[in-house]
Amino acid sequence: MTNLIYMTDSYRTELAAQVVSCIKKGSGWEIVLDQTIFYPQGGGQPSDKGTIKGKQGLATVKHVRMLGDEVIHECALNGTIDEKESVECSIDWNARYHNMRAHSAGHVVHEAVRLVAPYLDPIKGEHGKSAYIEYKGSLPVDKKPLIEQQGNDLIRQNLTLKTEFVTLDELQKRASYIPEHLPKHKPLRILSVGNYPPIPDGGTQVKSTGEIGEITITSVDNADDHVRVYYAIPPNESDETKNDTCQSVDSTVSTSRHDTGNQAIKVDQIMTAPQFIGLLLDAQRNAKEFITISDKSAEELRLLLLGPKSELGRLTKQIRQVPASDRGNVGVVVNEVKSSIIEAIAIHAAHSTTSKPGFDLNWADVTIPGIRPPEGHLHIVSQAITEITRIFERIGFTRVRHPEVDWDYYAFEALNMPPHHPARDEWETFFIDYPGKPPGTRPGLEATRRKQIVLTPHTSNGQVREMEKGKLPIRMINIAKCYRRQSDVSHVPMFHQFEGMYIDKGVTIGDLTGVFNFFVKNYFGPDRNVRLRPFHFQFTEPSVEIDINCGICLGKGCRLCKEGWLEMAGGGMVHPNVLKAGGVDPSVYSGFAFGWGVERAAMMKSGTKLDDIRLLYSNDIRFLNQF
Ligand code: DAH
Repeated sequence: MTNLIYMTDSYRTELAAQVVSCIKKGSGWEIVLDQTIFYPQGGGQPSDKGTIKGKQGLATVKHVRMLGDEVIHECALNGTIDEKESVECSIDWNARYHNMRAHSAGHVVHEAVRLVAPYLDPIKGEHGKSAYIEYKGSLPVDKKPLIEQQGNDLIRQNLTLKTEFVTLDELQKRASYIPEHLPKHKPLRILSVGNYPPIPDGGTQVKSTGEIGEITITSVDNADDHVRVYYAIPPNESDETKNDTCQSVDSTVSTSRHDTGNQAIKVDQIMTAPQFIGLLLDAQRNAKEFITISDKSAEELRLLLLGPKSELGRLTKQIRQVPASDRGNVGVVVNEVKSSIIEAIAIHAAHSTTSKPGFDLNWADVTIPGIRPPEGHLHIVSQAITEITRIFERIGFTRVRHPEVDWDYYAFEALNMPPHHPARDEWETFFIDYPGKPPGTRPGLEATRRKQIVLTPHTSNGQVREMEKGKLPIRMINIAKCYRRQSDVSHVPMFHQFEGMYIDKGVTIGDLTGVFNFFVKNYFGPDRNVRLRPFHFQFTEPSVEIDINCGICLGKGCRLCKEGWLEMAGGGMVHPNVLKAGGVDPSVYSGFAFGWGVERAAMMKSGTKLDDIRLLYSNDIRFLNQF
């Protein structure tokens, strides 16, 4: 069993050890020591390199791996190294320090991602040539600057990275994430960044986040319900000129699984003018994104975005890779990009409070536009409710309100679902026992109310309540909160439905199609149509499910919708028993009703595919601001 010195001291570069075995393997040698400072590849961190020096031989360590509880140093050997011999180990500190900073940066990026998208589940991290953290779920690419900003905030705070050895039990209790396979032979260790919850970790780590330097999120790459957040760190301070480490900030190096064209160019390759210009434009976009979210002064921004260490600065140095005949044209674009960044910095400075020279009257520029106070807006669901109401009002429907905490009677029994009817199970309802004798509004109803109150699981409770008002015809749109015992990525326990009902003499299912068509054309756009599909509800006969043609293929069939139609709402002709329960004579009147989720309608309209619908109610202003 090898004693893993690097686990307790990541900064140790030299160590005296004793050889346990030194065996020839193929063209090289495999050395096992009683203790080691060499990090064996694992946890996304590449292995160390270096030397093992004996009395009669020098081994160059090319790769290190863990086998059971032993660390195997794969070497090229000059001379001989013997069992039990004392040797001097020395690691390539420059490479290790870079790997270590990259690994710690991975933890910082993870904390930043958790701040921006707490719903993502981490899967793994890679901290080598192409560094990324992978999650299950998806993340809008426009979150890239925000993650970068949050990550760099954590770096500026110079938070301590603290490791602790723990028992499995403690690890399970304390860690915010537990990987599927914990290493069998390594001691269990957790790492925390500042006061953030710890994460299992066996790598080498820097002492504080400040050592990492400014990170860059190079891409957010979504594929098949997984997302990789790629990041880069600056070179080691003593190693500014080295450009062979791919995770150093360098836009010319491919960091993304989906990188194409100009992004996949190696530093020492020849570049065509269009490729170089592509990179310039990327740098310009990154710089402008950074300016919009930055609170730095103009001077700091100029240094960061145009200075020699900036993405643009580095790129400019590589202009020699473009064929000489094209350099003139490319140079013009370099200058244009620079001017546009300078202009963006100036505009930002003019609007930002941090770069203003205070109240010195000599500096006051009264022509600078004022600072707009931040403006709020209605929640996306409130916006949808208003819009839905307006559309139905145009064809004579009136928005009504009915109780959201109601008798079981209105939510189920009056809708043709007597107590214990199996159809009730479709609504995962919260029931409340009414304390004492329920008050009655209509003689004879008390007995049937069965003392139970529900948090309305749908807006259909408004149907009989509306009929009980005794006024016909009815054209109502009841929009209200609904409650169901469900909370997962596609359900929230409180959501909204809108319920339409039209009762008059001679209403047919054709009217339902017409009204719904009117709604979808006005809400989703003129190309959209509906179709009715037979279904079953206890409170309508016949019952239908209402589909809308897919907005992408308009009904032809595509990858999103498969066969051209998306399921939307439930509806049908109001059942005679329901009309009777509401005191309406089914031999004279008929009517249709339908009901649908407001959240779903709003998401479908905005084209937003939410991986977690609970985000709508998480009150995260960064999410809500988008709508
Ligand atoms: N209340 C049903 C639900 O929550 C939707 C519904 C179906 C409403 C048919 C209706 C209707 O008015 O006629 O799933």
